[in-house]
Amino acid sequence: MEIPFVGRLRELESIRDRSKLQQVKPHFIYGPEGCGKTRLFIEAVRRFSEWFDDGLAVYVNAEEARDPRRIFYIAVGRGVRVSRGVRDLVASAIRAALDYLGVPEASLSGSAVALAITPILERFYLKLKLSGVQRILLVIDEPARYIEVKELNGYAKTLYNKMSFRWEGEAFYGRILNIYALTSEGLSRDLLSRHSYVGQDFVWNLSREEYEELYHRLLEIYRPENPSRIAGFDEVWRLYGGNPRRLMELAIEHSWDVKTHLERIYDEKKIPRIVYVAKKEGLLDKLRAVTEDPDNIYKMHGMLELINILVRENLVIEMPSGRGIGGVEIPRDRGLGIGRYWAWQVPVYRELVARALEEI
Ligand SMILES: Nc1ncnc2c1ncn2[C@@H]1O[C@H](COP(=O)(O)OP(=O)(O)O)[C@@H](O)[C@H]1O
Ligand SMILES: [Mg+2]
Repeated sequence: MEIPFVGRLRELESIRDRSKLQQVKPHFIYGPEGCGKTRLFIEAVRRFSEWFDDGLAVYVNAEEARDPRRIFYIAVGRGVRVSRGVRDLVASAIRAALDYLGVPEASLSGSAVALAITPILERFYLKLKLSGVQRILLVIDEPARYIEVKELNGYAKTLYNKMSFRWEGEAFYGRILNIYALTSEGLSRDLLSRHSYVGQDFVWNLSREEYEELYHRLLEIYRPENPSRIAGFDEVWRLYGGNPRRLMELAIEHSWDVKTHLERIYDEKKIPRIVYVAKKEGLLDKLRAVTEDPDNIYKMHGMLELINILVRENLVIEMPSGRGIGGVEIPRDRGLGIGRYWAWQVPVYRELVARALEEI
């Protein structure tokens, strides 16, 4: 069962408003792991066909390695005429990808499609003769995980070129084409931020109000076997700070039992190993300082090695200087481990690292 989508109204509105015009650059969307980037953009793709009669929205999941039918998610507006015989848009997109890549269906992966997405999208478009399409929203989910850092610039530039220059006779000529790439991969961020052909946007975890709504929805759907074990909302907020993935895990996989969930996170995030590595490299004091205040990453010297570890493991994230997508304010809350410049992605990561530091 799918959990109803909550909140994110301003984010959706911003995606809709931007779709009215040709944007100059592709936007890379950053945000903590599990904060809801994928869900937000799937929702935008769904609504795109309601927002725009002349819209075509395509979502590509670069992380899908097994089932080709799960690589694409496509929606078209009511005013778009799909040529007869082609009912299944996804099947047709898969055929375009197979054609272009020249691989058998069994070996079609989301990452290969994401890498070659612009020519594949063009083939798909030309094959279907989608008349009535005036605007296209293309969302590529997590391409940066599969592209070497040194090649990421070239990739972003290709997307930029496709948005900026289209010759007469080419697919999408005279159409609006806006592209978003979603990424939880923080190491690419510095690199891309140096270039004027990439825009960056930020999505933070859910706000307290949105999170509370999700909490109550989940409580209705996943009634715990043992109600006395349910974590109250205040505790959930303090531990997970608005991160929807962690809340879903708590409700579904751990029947609201915080204790077993935290043990799982401790293992999953390899926290003892990170603390061990920090000790070996002489970084323990620095790591402790980051648990006290994540902005110490910014304030102290010699942090580079530690940043690389913490960013790679998706424990901390660099904060944007402005607001998030849609002008949403990003909270600065020391109690939740969110500083001005850096933040723990989920408050409990800090707590678990601090605990491991005590034990070493
Ligand atoms: N606004 C939302 N309303 C309801 N569920 C959400 C919302 N945002 C995220 N979720 C759920 O939380 C989980 C993590 O979200 P996801 O989009 O996968 O995060 P990300 O892509 O940022 O890693 C998913 O199960 C998703 O369905
Ligand atoms: Mg995602």
